[in-house]
Amino acid sequence: MKAVGVLALIISLSIVTESKVYTRCKLAKIFVKAGLDHYGGFSLGNWICMAYYESHYNTTVQNTLGDGSIDYGIFQINSFTWCRNANVQQNNRCHVACSALITDDLTDAILCAKKIVKETQGMNYWQGWKKHCEGKDMSEWKRGCEVS
Ligand SMILES: *[C@@H]1O[C@H](CO)[C@@H](O)[C@H](O)[C@H]1NC(C)=O
Repeated sequence: MKAVGVLALIISLSIVTESKVYTRCKLAKIFVKAGLDHYGGFSLGNWICMAYYESHYNTTVQNTLGDGSIDYGIFQINSFTWCRNANVQQNNRCHVACSALITDDLTDAILCAKKIVKETQGMNYWQGWKKHCEGKDMSEWKRGCEVS
């Protein structure tokens, strides 16, 4: 019985970690720690807003586009230019496997997002950000979170 219980726990834990959806404030803290606040001149709220409209904070989201490329993870980073997957010959400008962009650990996704901001001069890469966040008051996005 005990072994069955442990097994059930392991299985449910592995299901939980398969698709990770961060809360807004947890994400805010991770973003601050990773130096995203004001990175490229974009306040923390811009990053949280962007992640919300790109993925609803769900790290495992993948979307296949019309050209066959795939957008990966919390920032919906595209395989055609930025990461490497099995299907196509890509530029892989972030020098990362696309699969590393859909894990709970956001390190690689954040590094790649920083590179995108640097190399494309801003956050225009993200349609969700352009449409819903750009030029708006972003302070609400970190409200209630224990970040300065
Ligand atoms: C997160 O995204 C994955 C992949 O699209 C999906 O299967 C899962 O249901 C999503 N999780 C939530 C809580 O929306």
